[in-house]
Amino acid sequence: MDESDILKELETIKKVAEEELASVKDASDLEKWSVKYLGRKGVLLSLTRRIPEFPVSQRPLIGSHINRLKTFLIEAHDKKSASVIQFASRGPDLNFTLPGIKPEIAHYHPITIVARRICRIFRALGFGVHIGPEIETDYYNFEALNTPSDHPARDMWDTFHLDTESGLLLRTHTSPIQVRTMEKIKPPLRIVAFGKCFRRDAPDASHSPAFHQIEGLMVDEGISFAHLKGVLVYFLKSFFGEDIKVRFLPSYFPFTEPSAEISISCVICKGRGCSTCAGTGWLEVLGAGMVHPEVFRAVGIDLQDMTGFAFGAGVERIAMLKFGIDDIREFFFNDERFLSQIGHVL
Ligand code: DAH
Repeated sequence: MDESDILKELETIKKVAEEELASVKDASDLEKWSVKYLGRKGVLLSLTRRIPEFPVSQRPLIGSHINRLKTFLIEAHDKKSASVIQFASRGPDLNFTLPGIKPEIAHYHPITIVARRICRIFRALGFGVHIGPEIETDYYNFEALNTPSDHPARDMWDTFHLDTESGLLLRTHTSPIQVRTMEKIKPPLRIVAFGKCFRRDAPDASHSPAFHQIEGLMVDEGISFAHLKGVLVYFLKSFFGEDIKVRFLPSYFPFTEPSAEISISCVICKGRGCSTCAGTGWLEVLGAGMVHPEVFRAVGIDLQDMTGFAFGAGVERIAMLKFGIDDIREFFFNDERFLSQIGHVL
């Protein structure tokens, strides 16, 4: 092999390398090309290693031809490299460093969210969460709760009866879960229960024939009204904020004695009086009381040892006060524009 052969060879290498580079599409192709021609075991270095095979007089010239080819290949590589990078960052204005756009995924219904929040507060106090059937018997909904069929207090709950023979009805409150739980679990016990309730009420801004309640029950030796107060004030302040005031007034329920109606200072006007609180400064949020001895008797609990307190609240009402919603029907229209607002707030 003499000088002209090697020059021809270099020319061919240059041509092929140029052609191959022209078909390079991306960074990984370019890397392969670079390894082939400029790498440690690449074409260029193997040419350099062959220089000693030539007569001493020809070596400088051959060396300089190889160097020229090297410069050419490096420059061609760098030029291509710039266009490959530009190509990769072109396209629909992509900025790979921006956080992605989250797809809209489903969220819980506001009532579920509020009920879960309430349950979380009670769970932290050691309360278990229970449920019960929406179709109830007269016994669990009324009788066992010290409300026999001739009791005038039945007027408090306008009831949907399924038929007259079976005595089945749609539960008017979650209080039957108290009875069902005490039949299964002997005290001491601490539970909350959440679920749908039904009443024959004409729908308006504050009434819905279907709604939700949260119920609570704590039974143990030596439970007093002070425990009731402590637990419920803690719950209301955790849910509505430390700055609210809580008021207890005497009330009446057949299944508690004494009974109380519990209000918080108006969350809208902070107690000064507005349309939401009908100018009183107070909003009623809970019914509660000490479990009536007749209820304990119905489930066979020994009156000597055990006392307890219970409470119940409308979940829609609590959600309306918390989020400033003025119409209970919003919860049932299933308008995504309403539902997603609260779903995203929480
Ligand atoms: N069940 C009652 C209602 O629907 C609310 C209630 C009041 C529940 C007092 C209780 C309670 O457990 O002790 O109006």
